[in-house]
Amino acid sequence: MKNRLHVKAPGNWVNDPNGMIYYKGQYHLFYQHFPYAPRWGTMHWGHAVSPDLIHWEHVGVALFPSLSEDQNGCFSGSAVEENGVMHLFYTGVHYNQVNPKDIHQCLDQDFTSAQLHLTSKDGMHFDVFGDKEVVIPALTDPEIGDNTHTRDPKVWKGSDAWYMVLGSTTKDHKGEALFYKSEDLSHWRLAGQATTKQKLGWMWECPDLFNVNGRSVFVFSPMELIEDTDGYADRAICMLPEFDEKTCTMKFPENWQLLDCGGDLYAPQTMTDADGNRISIAWLRMPEPVDGIWQGMFCMPRVVDVQNDHIYFRVLPAIRDGFCKKTDSLVSACGECAMIRAELKEGESLEIGGYKIWRQSGKVCADRTDVYPSGAKGWLHAETPQLKEGDLLEIFVDPNMIEIYANNGEYVLSQAVYGLGETFSYEMEKKPEIYLWNE
Ligand code: FRU
Repeated sequence: MKNRLHVKAPGNWVNDPNGMIYYKGQYHLFYQHFPYAPRWGTMHWGHAVSPDLIHWEHVGVALFPSLSEDQNGCFSGSAVEENGVMHLFYTGVHYNQVNPKDIHQCLDQDFTSAQLHLTSKDGMHFDVFGDKEVVIPALTDPEIGDNTHTRDPKVWKGSDAWYMVLGSTTKDHKGEALFYKSEDLSHWRLAGQATTKQKLGWMWECPDLFNVNGRSVFVFSPMELIEDTDGYADRAICMLPEFDEKTCTMKFPENWQLLDCGGDLYAPQTMTDADGNRISIAWLRMPEPVDGIWQGMFCMPRVVDVQNDHIYFRVLPAIRDGFCKKTDSLVSACGECAMIRAELKEGESLEIGGYKIWRQSGKVCADRTDVYPSGAKGWLHAETPQLKEGDLLEIFVDPNMIEIYANNGEYVLSQAVYGLGETFSYEMEKKPEIYLWNE
């Protein structure tokens, strides 16, 4: 099954992107996948590949449970390449009791997590029965981290060794990052632990640490970061800490940014593309399946940049360039994706198939009430912080997702939508421009 721009569940359920890597001339996007129903359950790794980060093809299930340690799921993780071999790292979960009514869900959060590793010589074949090894067994010392909630290994090559960051929770229920070090990708030793002074959620899912423009960028998804009765309490955030690789110590700044202002994006992961850009892809949480068939998709790949202490998530240039067929009508409802360029001034507005965007107090505001299931989880209304007048909006319209990039990725606001129409209207001084993909 082929996808363009947005990777959607091939059927049933997807959540986090995993194992993103440019390997042997193509991009690999693995993802958390429950292949049997459009809901979360025993996790497999689905697998999609792309030559260009734009055209994607689902190529089946790569990982599934086979050992006692991962018998109830192959949770999130990452990929690196060493001497032409792809190395995958993920969290194996083992439920300590069987849920007799639903074996795909855990009872009372009573499970154990270990970190596993396997390799592939071509990135397409995985010896799920013969090659898995447990590289970090379930933790037994609560001074280090939690036996249940320690997961999502992100591995990178440092200056002198391989490094891994894991998300965990401290004894006093604060989110925590654990750092491990290895010379051979098989033997790992604890090298550092880090947590913030102020509590930022109780567990840090999907931590990711990398450099952009000489700065360390830390992206993570703290659970119960905010109180949000309408939406999701777990949020993906990013910040610019100081990280010392030698000692694996992290100094946290006071400030952090939401990864996206729309409220739906979660559990992002990054990789380096063929040109050396840092690319982020995140899961778009969706409250119900589309046509009863598939649930969950990924945002477009975004280029991470750091300027003046701010983290930008920019449109991938090849995506902007691909939208070069100017048109007057919107055909989003036909499964197409469109790009709209708009200079939205204070008090002005536009409406895309029932999705409303306007500018108020300098902020870009959006409302999806008319194109979202009533009573479903997720913010109906979302807004960016204040922007400068004259900042350009680049709005990408997919039948199930709107992504608004403001001022070249200074802020991005993305939201899931359902039943988007073909209408397009605006109350703006300057006419917005609509572009279709040229292919
Ligand atoms: C984040 C997450 C990860 C975990 C995976 C399980 O959405 O909860 O922490 O590995 O999803 O599907």
